[in-house]
Amino acid sequence: MPPKSTPERAAGPLESAADFRRRLLRWFRRHGRDLPWRRTRDPYHVLVSEFMLQQTQVARVEAYYLRFLEQYPSIGALAAAPPAGVRESWEGLGYYRRAHHLHSLAQEVMRSHGGVIPSDPDLLVRLPGVGRYTAGAVASFAYEIATPAVDTNVARVLRRAFHPRLPRSGAQRRLWETGALLVPRRGASAWSFNQAIMELGALICTARVAHCSRCPVRPACKTGQTGNRKPSPP
Ligand code: ADE
Repeated sequence: MPPKSTPERAAGPLESAADFRRRLLRWFRRHGRDLPWRRTRDPYHVLVSEFMLQQTQVARVEAYYLRFLEQYPSIGALAAAPPAGVRESWEGLGYYRRAHHLHSLAQEVMRSHGGVIPSDPDLLVRLPGVGRYTAGAVASFAYEIATPAVDTNVARVLRRAFHPRLPRSGAQRRLWETGALLVPRRGASAWSFNQAIMELGALICTARVAHCSRCPVRPACKTGQTGNRKPSPP
């Protein structure tokens, strides 16, 4: 018997975490956006996209991402670039600490990891500018490691679907645990699941409104099932 309030129980007697996953993945195959960083599994490309997507909208990141990779086509090229040039390439994206961290990270990967971006989230979080979310994103998107990547959008989806009454304190730990239970270990991919749940948060289960009437996981969602469609705090 799973402990109380795992996704298995939270989804209701007839539905399950497996059903949530299946519905989500089916929807993502049909409706997921074709974004440049979804056409690659190159760890360096994934890393650049994730740094840019911290605090910046998808539409704005697309052009910067492509241009940055033309300017710095490899992690070695980035590591060797002058700091002023890297900052200039970031101009317009804002939050320049990200550029500084990405540059330092490239140098550290060249120095301490033989130019290979680690796949282990525990090693990734030790790199400059990499938090738990970015570590999970790089591990799952580039290396198919079955690990969750819980950003603001994903946290909102997990909260509404499985823990609508979760108190604020301690919420992060619970949401990461639920994320970990849901990420597929066999069959479907961690890449697909993490991209899909992020996409659901961006397109359907948004901060302002949970669009339950067109939500693919509604039958497996606590908020959708109870008809309580008032958005929970993001
Ligand atoms: N935000 C962070 N990572 C993302 C991704 N891979 N696709 C869309 N939005 C994102």
